[in-house]
Parts: sequence; C-alpha cells; structure tokens
Amino acid sequence: SVDVSSLMKTTGLSALDQGFVNTASTKSAITYIDGDAGILRYRGYAIEDLARNSTYLETAWLLIYGELPTQSELAEFEDKIRRHTLLHEDLKTFFSALPHTAHPMSVLSSAVSALSTYYEDSLDPHNPEMVEMNTVRLLAKLPVIAAYAHKKSLGQAFLYPDNSLSFVENFLKLNFGNMAEPYEINPVLVNALERLLILHEDHEQNASTSTVRLVGSTEANMFASISAGINALYGPLHGGANEAVLTMLQQIHDSGESVQKFVERVKNKEDGVKLMGFGHRVYKNFDPRAKLVKESADEVLADLGVKDPLLDIAKELEEAALADEYFIQRKLYPNVDFYTGVIYKAMGFPARTFTVLFAIGRLPGWIAHWREAATDPATKIGRPQQLYVGPAARAWPSGR
Ligand code: ACO
Repeated sequence: SVDVSSLMKTTGLSALDQGFVNTASTKSAITYIDGDAGILRYRGYAIEDLARNSTYLETAWLLIYGELPTQSELAEFEDKIRRHTLLHEDLKTFFSALPHTAHPMSVLSSAVSALSTYYEDSLDPHNPEMVEMNTVRLLAKLPVIAAYAHKKSLGQAFLYPDNSLSFVENFLKLNFGNMAEPYEINPVLVNALERLLILHEDHEQNASTSTVRLVGSTEANMFASISAGINALYGPLHGGANEAVLTMLQQIHDSGESVQKFVERVKNKEDGVKLMGFGHRVYKNFDPRAKLVKESADEVLADLGVKDPLLDIAKELEEAALADEYFIQRKLYPNVDFYTGVIYKAMGFPARTFTVLFAIGRLPGWIAHWREAATDPATKIGRPQQLYVGPAARAWPSGR
C-alpha cells in the first residue's frame, strides 16, 4: 500500500472510499491479518498458538505491552486486576434504574461511560500512570458489569467477585453462581471461554476498534472511547452477529423450514435475509478463528452431554453453503461468530448476552489501540472528508 496522504494534500485530490474498503486509517504494530491466506497474528504470534496455549489475561498483556509477560509480570497483572473488580456501590443503583428487559449491550456501554464519573481526577489521556490505572480498571470491571447486567435481567442478586478464582472462573461464577450454594467450576467451560475470549481479543481496524481510535483521537478519555466501541460492536453486522446467528438457527428450527430452502432465500436476497455468521470484510478464504471455535463447540457440547439441534442445523448450513456457487463466488465462509452462539448457549448464556461476551473479549484490543494511538506523535484528530451531493447554493425564498 502507498501513503498517498501527502500526495493528495499537494495535488488537492481526494478519494471517495465508502466503508473504507481500500483506505488505511493508521499504521499499527499490534495485529497482522492476511485475509487471503487466513492468517491472524497478535504481535507476531499465531492465533492458533495463542488460543491453544495462552490465557485471556496473558494475551491481553501481549496486545497492550507488545511482548509476552514474564511469569512474575503476569502474576502481578492478574493480581492487580483481581483487586480492582469491585464496582462503586452507588453504581448498583444505576442497574436498578434500568428496566429488566434492557439489552445487556446498552447496559454495558452506559455503565462503562458512567465509570468515568467515579474517576474524574484520573482521566488525562497524556498521564501514563492514569492510563495504566484505567487499563486495569476496565479489564477488571467490564466482566463484573456484564455479569450484573445478566443477573439483573434474571431478577437475581448480584454476587461479589471471588478473589480465590481466576479471571474466567470468576466471570462464570458471577453469571451462574448464587448466594445459596457453592459454585462448581467446570474446567472444560473455563478452557473454552478462555479460548473464545482470546480469539476475539483483537482484529486490527474493525468497526469498533476504529471507533475507539476515532473517539480517542479527540483526546476523549479511555472510558468514553471504549463505551463508543461497545456501541459500534452492538450492530448485527459486527459483534451482534453472534446473537443474530442463534436467532437465525432458532427460527429455522422452529419454522421447520429446510436448510436448503433457507439457503435459497438467502441467495435470492429475499427480504434482505443473510446467512448470519458468514462472510467477512478481510477473510476471503477462511476465518482462522472459526476453525478453533468449531473445535471448542464439539468439546463443550460433548462435555455437557448437550445434544443441540441448532448445532446440527449450523453444520448442515455450513455444508450447504460451502458447496454452493453463490457463496463460493463471493468468497463467503463461516466467520468467528458462526459457532460461538451454540457454545455460549450450551454454557447457559442467554442469546442477548452473546455480544457482551464479544465485548469482554475485544476489550484488550481496544485498549491496546487506544494506547498506541495516544502515544503515537503522528496521531491526528480523525476527520474524514465527504463528497457533497446536495443542492447548490439557493436563494432564500422572498417573503418567507
Ligand atoms: N449472506 C449472504 N450473502 C452475503 C453475506 C451473507 N452473510 N455476506 C455477504 N454477502 C453477499 C452480499 O450480498 C454481496 O453480494 P452481491 O455481490 O450480489 O451484492 C457480496 O456477498 C459481498 O458482500 P459485501 O456486503 O459487499 O461484503 P462486505 O465485506 O461489505 O461485508 C460482512 C462483510 C458485513 C461481514 C457481510 O459478509 C455480512 O453482512 N455478513 C453477515 C453478518 C456477520 O456475520 N457479521 C460478522 C462479521 S465478523 C465480526 O464482526 C466478528
């Protein structure tokens, strides 16, 4: 790719690139993707190695600081995060003010935005100590907010985090534990969730990360920027796809429509229906994350002894689409979210919380990008141009 910005500046040229299909908005040293070859690397490490060997927090450190942590660095990081999980007690009234039907993504973005009100003396994006502090606060508190949003939707009491547990164990307990009995940790679920979170941790300049960088470019604080990223992730064409996949599978199941008939409707673009969980802006051969997710789907369902007809429909859909000219020609393959919903559902998460799980996964990437942009002297306020297509100058109607 060519850096055309200075050329354009001197020649006065500008380009229209709707959806930024061909425009790089920044240089970045965090994540590498080769969409044709199906390669994804965080700081040079293959996603397959990270998914099979690392943990969410270790990978978070790698994304944020650029290197794998030493054992003592990781232990210190985990400990710091463990000690910042508590939310201000007043924030609980925020949850009670919302209807129990509130979508957890709206709760999440609003609560993250509200967090900044508790830390008004430490929001300066140029103060490295404050940036460190807010990095830890966000990583520690987002899963707690997410679990509270889930508990709120069920009308159940919020639990306090348990410092004897790992990050992911704690998250599962906060969601599925109750006050009356001990919560039993299932290591298969813990490993699967670690893996799913790692797979979502970064994906270079996707819509939500670009949003975080754009908001950050105005020197807005980290909470405000991440809250904006959560809202960008909400849409069904981005993070909301995992919920939309499950809704689609459930609808096919409940209606009794055959997979082949559904695929025909997709191909005919009937009512704009899409095969959710298929296609990607950059992966045009396969999404390397989807393979790893599929492995976990089989493991989790086998461990829980769950026989989910929706998994069978998903597999049938995948097979039908991969053999079909429409999908082959357009290079449409299952993306990371095609199978995640089936796993989350088996774990006990309601469909409306799926995108929240994506947000927790993506948080380290958002933070890494926000910090990279904030410390890069080349960062400028993001301000795209437009091609004006409205009316030319008009005279004000006399007598009006
Ligand atoms: N089902 C059916 N047709 C599709 C699908 C799909 N899932 N995705 C793309 N197409 C078709 C389009 O209709 C278009 O067809 P045409 O050439 O006949 O007009 C062609 O394939 C190219 O699609 P675009 O929309 O131009 O591709 P783009 O790169 O802009 O979009 C996107 C990528 C948004 C992911 C798209 O594939 C999509 O909507 N997929 C479903 C939603 C989804 O799963 N999103 C999750 C993305 S991954 C993530 O965020 C983690």
